[in-house]
Amino acid sequence: MSLYQQYSTIFDGITTPAAWVDMDKFDNNIQTNLTRANHRSIRIASKSVRCVHLLRYLLNASQQFNGIMCYHPQEAALLVDEGFDDLLIAYPSLCRDSLMAALQASTKPAKLYFMVDRVEHVALLDGLAAELNIKANLCLDLDMSVPFPGVHFGVHRSNIKTPRQAVEFYRRIKGFQHINLCGLMGYEAQIAGLGDQVPGKILQNIVVRYLKKKSLPIIHDRRTETILVLLHEGAQLTLINGGGTGSIESTIQEPLVNEVTVGSGFYCSHLFDYYRNFKLEPAAGFVTSVARKPSADIVTCNGGGYVASGNAERIKMPQPYLPAGLKLDPNEGTGEVQTPLHTQQCKQALEPGDPVFFRHAKAGELCEHFNQLHLIRDGVIEDTVTTYRGNGWVFM
Ligand SMILES: Cc1ncc(COP(=O)(O)O)c(C=O)c1O
Repeated sequence: MSLYQQYSTIFDGITTPAAWVDMDKFDNNIQTNLTRANHRSIRIASKSVRCVHLLRYLLNASQQFNGIMCYHPQEAALLVDEGFDDLLIAYPSLCRDSLMAALQASTKPAKLYFMVDRVEHVALLDGLAAELNIKANLCLDLDMSVPFPGVHFGVHRSNIKTPRQAVEFYRRIKGFQHINLCGLMGYEAQIAGLGDQVPGKILQNIVVRYLKKKSLPIIHDRRTETILVLLHEGAQLTLINGGGTGSIESTIQEPLVNEVTVGSGFYCSHLFDYYRNFKLEPAAGFVTSVARKPSADIVTCNGGGYVASGNAERIKMPQPYLPAGLKLDPNEGTGEVQTPLHTQQCKQALEPGDPVFFRHAKAGELCEHFNQLHLIRDGVIEDTVTTYRGNGWVFM
């Protein structure tokens, strides 16, 4: 039986559109990422999972998984209530109420780290921690982008871009009584989150591979020097985080980085198909149904227009996955409430009522469109669990 036929049987009788995770493939991706990380500790990026059940499942899957990288202080507070106890909030916030909620959660037996790159971040956390008479654990965000002539290779992120700036920052915040700088994070987005084997982009792939190669030693030196100068200044760094799904192999080359982050590499949304250094399995997506046939070689499905964030390009749209050979319409793409698909290259006959399976471009964002994930294993739905959205958790 083809995978399309298996999935079709599994979803017979389930209301669509619906989101799914193939747990057999999810488990294979876990193993692939553990092997890629070669015993280095892995922190799980919650933004790329957005489901408490699966975050817990991941942490229980191996002792190599330690802690969650979350994206909002309110989220961190809720995760502490769910029993998670090691949370790095990877993006600075100036939202007083959310920070207070997270600081209060850190008085329970849980270790929370707050990301900073400006004195304003530190001053706010220091004042709030003083109200609770505790110390806030801080993590400094070191910018890992590399400017080349005409290209800013990487993302615009932290204000701290050099070892010298990191030390100057540390000296400015040393006097605050209710903080403790104990972490350093450098996320090399241009390696971790940028595909270098994108179909139909021959020139772009060559340039990206060249720039990746050029920027690796710069990243390595910047991160290592920053760690060493901060340690020399007296910072007690215990958490040194780097990388993401796309960069595991290169990030672990740095012995001082004691944990690498992985998120998208579990669901493997389709943007993670386009890397030379690893191969993961498509473990998550959504199913919708053919509702009508406007012509002999076009079927139109309900829903579908769950376009991913970032620069608006075609590649950010969900891709039809099963049955193989379906093509999006070049003018309509994935639509607000319906999506036409060209069937000329699809061997499977599709009639109204038949299911069609899609994959999202970005991993966790799939969960912002569905309240539940149907977990498939061994040819059946073994469980149905809530997404963050299904819990009523919306942070941004
Ligand atoms: C700080 C940080 N670390 C790591 C990652 C990597 O996450 P993923 O493995 O989902 O690509 C991201 C993604 O944006 C990030 O912002």
